[in-house]
Amino acid sequence: MGKHVHIKSFGCQMNKLDTALVRSALDEAGFSLTEKVGDADVVLINTCSVREHAEQRVLSHLGHLKHIKKSRPDLVVGVIGCMAQRLGDELLEHEAVNIVCGPAEIPQISELITKVMQDGKKSLAVTAGIRRKAPAERSHALEEFEAAYGIEDGRIPAQAFVRVMRGCNNFCSYCVVPYVRGPEISRPPEAIIEQIRKLADHGTRQVTLLGQTVNSYKYEQGDKTWSLADLLGAASDINGIEWLRFVTSYPSDEFFDEIMQIMADSPKVCNYLHIPAQSGSDKILRAMNRNYSCEWYLELLDRARAVVPGISIAGDFIVGFPGETEEDFQATVDLLRKAWYKNAFIFKYSPRPGTRSDKRLQDTVPAETKQRRNVELLAVQEKISDELSRDFLGRRVKVLVEGPSKKAHLNSADAADNPQLAARTATDYIVVFNGPESLAGRFADVKIIRTSPLTLFGEPV
Ligand code: 5AD
Ligand code: SF4
Repeated sequence: MGKHVHIKSFGCQMNKLDTALVRSALDEAGFSLTEKVGDADVVLINTCSVREHAEQRVLSHLGHLKHIKKSRPDLVVGVIGCMAQRLGDELLEHEAVNIVCGPAEIPQISELITKVMQDGKKSLAVTAGIRRKAPAERSHALEEFEAAYGIEDGRIPAQAFVRVMRGCNNFCSYCVVPYVRGPEISRPPEAIIEQIRKLADHGTRQVTLLGQTVNSYKYEQGDKTWSLADLLGAASDINGIEWLRFVTSYPSDEFFDEIMQIMADSPKVCNYLHIPAQSGSDKILRAMNRNYSCEWYLELLDRARAVVPGISIAGDFIVGFPGETEEDFQATVDLLRKAWYKNAFIFKYSPRPGTRSDKRLQDTVPAETKQRRNVELLAVQEKISDELSRDFLGRRVKVLVEGPSKKAHLNSADAADNPQLAARTATDYIVVFNGPESLAGRFADVKIIRTSPLTLFGEPV
């Protein structure tokens, strides 16, 4: 019988995609996957470095595994992902850890595991000089890995992620990503389209295109330069695909109007834009190395709304960036009020070793102030989200059903054959309703009968 592997995943959608790729690679190599650590011969942790908190959670997990290994010394523990790349050797020294493998090295993962099982030696696979252009073999290995495996998420039926680009060249001063995921590289359009076609043939109905700054996708091919708008257009022509999404966008002029135009023109491109502002203070934006002003950013949202009426927009903010005064923070509150987001993700600034803001600026804003600003901003957003949600009362919406809802919101015991389901609209609103589990992965029409800031409640029609 094959050895059992348990994978735990932290972090963003990029990481979820990597986890799905690793899962199918291991399956192909003859390993069995298990949901229980207790049944596992190998435990892999896919890690995130974006904030210190994410790393601390991994470290506490490793502490737990160290304890387990006292009674099961043969258990193999591998750390993959961004934290593996960031810490390398240092992580390998951890008593619990056998393998450290960075995001650009994951095509080797099953060999690394097999080798450690044979010789018992610790194994390190991180990318040296990650900011240098990748050698052809590495890019080739990543492309093969990406294209060859069944990348259907598997967790949510009929939905899949497809990476359109790797890495990032933006160097926002707070961000660790350029240092752990390397330089920005757009994947060839044929490879992406072929992959979407394959997914569609296997029943995928919604594809989310992924990139750190997905709207800057750019691929030169002879006389033609492919943009994200071109990719969305080509993907719209694929039979079987019904909804297309893309995350995350950087506020930039390049290709913006084309992308909004294809969103307006193609019924398959969901009217949803995730476009982080990060701050509402021009001074802080400059210190963050974000090259736009608040005024320009708000105009960009106006442009999106003019071309795609009813578009739903989401944003990210960092509170407590070094030097953020009360006045700067109020400017962020102001921007939030004007931006009229469907929802906003709000984070407390966390200094990341190696980044420009960590090297040059002191983390001056006290933890309590960060916490207070976080809560205050969330409260402002909640009112806006609530108002936008209320607009849905009595309306019929089309949703893609994800599966049983994890949280009990409604009467979850309606009937065994009518459990509570979670679904999403094209505009990314979460909709909860009671219906048969067989709807998972299918589209449904739901009438909204109650709303809350982040969730709509309905009944099937
Ligand atoms: N501290 C806090 N939040 C951060 N983000 C990125 N880096 C940091 C950091 N050092 C946030 C940004 C980004 C989201 C994915 O995480 O808002 O958009
Ligand atoms: Fe994703 Fe960035 Fe976290 Fe890496 S560091 S998992 S790219 S959010």
